Amino acid sequence: MAEKLPIEFVFDPEFARDPYGVYAALREKGPVHAIDFPPGTDAFLVIDYEHGRPALNDPRLSKEFKHAPAVFRQFVTDAGRNNPVLAHNMLSSDPPDHTRLRRLVSKAFTPRRTESLRPRIQEIADGLVDAMAPTGRADLIGDFAFPLPIVVICELLGVPAEDRDAFREWSATLIDPAMDEEQLRRRAEVNAAIRDYFGRLIAERRAEPRDDMISALVSARDDRELLSEQELMATLTLLLIAGHETTVNLIGNGVLALLTHPDQLALLRERPELIPSAVEEFLRYEGPVERATLRFATEDLQIAGVHIPEGSVVHISLGAADRDPEAFAHPDTLDVTRADNHHVAFGHGIHFCLGAPLARLEGRIAFETLLRRLPGLALDCPPAEAAWRRSGSLIRGLEALPVTF
Ligand code: HEM
Repeated sequence: MAEKLPIEFVFDPEFARDPYGVYAALREKGPVHAIDFPPGTDAFLVIDYEHGRPALNDPRLSKEFKHAPAVFRQFVTDAGRNNPVLAHNMLSSDPPDHTRLRRLVSKAFTPRRTESLRPRIQEIADGLVDAMAPTGRADLIGDFAFPLPIVVICELLGVPAEDRDAFREWSATLIDPAMDEEQLRRRAEVNAAIRDYFGRLIAERRAEPRDDMISALVSARDDRELLSEQELMATLTLLLIAGHETTVNLIGNGVLALLTHPDQLALLRERPELIPSAVEEFLRYEGPVERATLRFATEDLQIAGVHIPEGSVVHISLGAADRDPEAFAHPDTLDVTRADNHHVAFGHGIHFCLGAPLARLEGRIAFETLLRRLPGLALDCPPAEAAWRRSGSLIRGLEALPVTF
């Protein structure tokens, strides 16, 4: 195997601009690469589909921080006290805790329940376009792609959407890596703020239950003792963050992809019945969880012939897997008619995204509404100047997307 990829790999602005070119060059050398991230750990990056997809569901690769290298454990011991998001939610658990926590929340995410949200999501999408319309100019992220999923997840959970500026900052702080003392301090502050915030809401719903997910989870906790107080808080935080950091980028990355591929835009305008297939293609072509999702090896194992020692961090890059030429014909071509689009943008296996039906519904409504109501939609900046979020993030998304219409 070639030498370790340095930590700069992840933070290189070139990587933020075009991760797929970087992966393509790396792919020439093999599907699994040692990487110095976090620094000083045994860590590996898997960039192909053949090994990445099964790794997502390999029971020897754990999501629990107790199997992580010390640098993570230190982080999460702190988390045990004051970090409601990194520990004790389903995405940081293996079975049986994972099974129990996921079952509790999946009731709220049945396809039927999700489908029942359709009229309300449409109403929100129309309201946002109405608010944009008079000016003929907008920031598609701030004015549309961000508020749409936020209002939906806030209503579903039962948290006031007016608090969304605070949530945006909190979730951005928690999702990005904390690399120095200042960032760790900021992260601790955010954890404390989230704990206080949800603590208050949980107390309010205990006193006066409503028809929302906080009340449902509080009753699962109090009446049936199906989860602990810490798990309750961690679950709410996970849902709030999952609702913030992902669908916004499905919409934003997808709109940028369309506006820079006029043939595909014209085709979709002509044949709006292709929107569901286009949404799958946006997820594959420029998925929100592009860089990686993490696992920790609970025993020595091999991936593509590379020895992964017990305790290693395994980064599985969903964005790289979804551009793998062995898995997708012409992977770097945006094709809204692509058939059999078996992308891994929502993961695979037991942690497959629980919010996928909701995200797909929001995505379809968003694109249908934008195309129908804004026939002149166009970029208001050179594509090369599109401001991708700072490098190092697990998430691929734009800071802003200036458009005219
Ligand atoms: C898990 C992507 C939207 C809730 C995941 C995972 C991915 C993902 C890749 C698995 C991570 C892993 O295996 O390590 C996405 C994308 C979205 C999206 C691309 C939007 C386009 C949402 C929404 C919600 C949500 C809207 C709910 C509010 C969750 C939850 C999990 C999860 C609860 C954990 C599932 C588990 O551990 O069993 N998501 N997500 N996601 N997602 Fe999403």
